[in-house]
Amino acid sequence: MPKRVTILGSTGSIGASTLDVIRDFPDRFQIVGLSTRRNGALLNEQITEFSPEAVCVASPEQANALPSDNCGADLLYGEQGLLDLVRNYDADILVVATVGFAGLFPTMAGIERGMRIALANKEVLVVAGDIVMAEARARQVPILPIDSEHNAIFQCLNGGEGRYLRRAILTASGGPFREFKPDRLKRVTRQEALNHPTWNMGPKITIDSATLMNKGFEMIEACHLFGLTPDQVDIVIHPQSTVHSMVEFTDGSILAQLGQTTMYLPILNVLAWPERLPNRFEPLDMARIGRLDFSPPDPERFRCLDYAYEACRRGGSVPAVLNAANEVAVEAFLGERIGFTEIPAIIREAMDNHHPLDNPTLEDLREVDRVTREKAHEYAGSSISQ
Ligand SMILES: NC(=O)c1ccc[n+]([C@@H]2O[C@H](COP(=O)([O-])OP(=O)(O)OC[C@H]3O[C@@H](n4cnc5c(N)ncnc54)[C@H](OP(=O)(O)O)[C@@H]3O)[C@@H](O)[C@H]2O)c1
Repeated sequence: MPKRVTILGSTGSIGASTLDVIRDFPDRFQIVGLSTRRNGALLNEQITEFSPEAVCVASPEQANALPSDNCGADLLYGEQGLLDLVRNYDADILVVATVGFAGLFPTMAGIERGMRIALANKEVLVVAGDIVMAEARARQVPILPIDSEHNAIFQCLNGGEGRYLRRAILTASGGPFREFKPDRLKRVTRQEALNHPTWNMGPKITIDSATLMNKGFEMIEACHLFGLTPDQVDIVIHPQSTVHSMVEFTDGSILAQLGQTTMYLPILNVLAWPERLPNRFEPLDMARIGRLDFSPPDPERFRCLDYAYEACRRGGSVPAVLNAANEVAVEAFLGERIGFTEIPAIIREAMDNHHPLDNPTLEDLREVDRVTREKAHEYAGSSISQ
């Protein structure tokens, strides 16, 4: 029987790569649900090709691009629609490929229904990792990471070695500005920041990679997924992006996972788990790669990394503030309303003005997210400079 799969955010970079995998293995996977925020045109193509039972778009305007009968798929709308897509249509695997806070409640709904969660939307764990992981443990629902770094760790632990894990070493390409001096960073343009050296990804994560906030988020994600403290997660710059991450065990042994720089492979790994499927990618040619470089990140130039460690150590509602302020700041940068170095300045301001909650509920976090966004919009409007 094919595994039934729902993809939230099917029109994005991860969503489309997930459909590439499913296209290659039609006997193994079957699409149940798809969603977009506003790319009705691409969703239209996906509906025609994959015949889902239901689809969700942000609002009725986006549905204009869909075929008049939706090819038989039920049509759902907005935040409630995403929840209904998870709650009312049976799937074995829920691929969460939305961006930011938006994936949190649908992920919880998937866990409550006992679906295996294939998680790309890392912000879900940044904002509410304690709650999400506790619920998944209680319901014995596997959360399988699509993020290549965490997928690498997951593979290195091979399902059983977690108790011996001493340290995780996340690799970072360093982004396009790893050699830039502080003055040059201030003048970075939107186009320069969107030009990632090794990975082809959606706009928000590409900017997060350039500020190194992405690595900060991944550190928090790793803490939740693998039961580590921030002090047990190190980050190294590795410009070739060939080693996807490493684990160090209590005896000092280090295992690394290596692979091509394509998200197809971690997605395939998670969808096929616990099996492994052959695929069309050429094996890595280590002799051609020739060398692998590693160096420490520079927290002075890339402040976001420190802010993420601080937020993770403080815990409670602080990581939700980190995330919300970052979402607003990145959106403002992409809209060319603020400069590159104002992104960390807005996050700093939001963290400094927040009164932390120790054990927030999901509803508390929703409110923290809303209030922080409002404030961050104000800071972005007044254009704080660093
Ligand atoms: N791309 C990668 O290689 C990569 C690697 C590792 C982890 N991740 C993580 O995976 C997640 C997805 O990244 P991506 O690069 O695939 O992003 P993306 O290309 O921007 O795609 C995001 C998808 O989610 C939808 N979406 C965005 N905001 C939404 C909202 N508020 N409500 C409902 N749907 C929404 C988008 O719809 P529209 O198309 O209409 O905008 C799109 O389908 C992120 O959390 C990212 O950090 C990505």
